[in-house]
Amino acid sequence: MSSSLVTLDIAIALACLVLAWFLFRINHRRAPLPPGPRRLPNEAKGATRFYRWHIDAALYDLSPPRVTTLYGLTVPTDPQQVCRYDDGTGDELPIPLGTTAFLKSLAMHSKVKYAPHPYVWMAPAHAMPTGLGIECEGLEVPLTELPPWEDAKLKILPVVWKNAVTGELHFQVHPCGVAELLVESIPEGKSKEGMLYPDGARLTDLKEVRGLLYKMQRPAIAPKLVYPHDWKEKDLVIFHNRGVLHSVVGAFTSDQVRAFHQCNLAASDDPTGPTTEDVKKWA
Ligand SMILES: [Fe+2]
Repeated sequence: MSSSLVTLDIAIALACLVLAWFLFRINHRRAPLPPGPRRLPNEAKGATRFYRWHIDAALYDLSPPRVTTLYGLTVPTDPQQVCRYDDGTGDELPIPLGTTAFLKSLAMHSKVKYAPHPYVWMAPAHAMPTGLGIECEGLEVPLTELPPWEDAKLKILPVVWKNAVTGELHFQVHPCGVAELLVESIPEGKSKEGMLYPDGARLTDLKEVRGLLYKMQRPAIAPKLVYPHDWKEKDLVIFHNRGVLHSVVGAFTSDQVRAFHQCNLAASDDPTGPTTEDVKKWA
């Protein structure tokens, strides 16, 4: 990356403190509100769920921030809880109370189109028990009832993002905000046998789109792949927002307080997808 681009990004980052505050409100201050999963009846017995796996991003008009920082101001110190997946696998993950869980995964090609004002769109809906997407209950706000939006500001991003430093690929989909899956055709010379949508497709049925994404993303949140940070006060966590997903977890009683400062390093460009060579190798 050239120094002028770095300077531009820093300038934009400084100018976007308001955006950071905006994202903080969206992603964390509203954490107890929908679209989290339905509450567990046995939260008092030490069980919890992933609230919502996500990337810190507006997913409308603005490019996904490069980096997120979280600074723990006040952190509950009670014993561990068990994070339940409740998707029929029996998976569970012991976690310190109030952790944030991180995920890294690699995968395929294709693009996702996010809904207009996706956080408003999804607000009435419930997250799945695993926090990895939205239940298909038809609760999303109709597009005609959303705040004014423009086609030109809708975000269409690759499913897999190319890491400009390492060259590796990151499966970076915010599963809750996706409205469409845009499947590219299988490249010339590759066998189409057994492939889904070998000639490409534009999938708009939410149940189909979410089902496919869930199949691709679920393996990546297996307990052994999740890092649950054991927060202590004054911890500062810095993570690559274009290379991991994260989720709030933890069931709190009314006298337990968790407070964080969050800041995102904004970006002046969208992530790029895999190269032709990557697609040849992995698709
Ligand atoms: Fe977040």
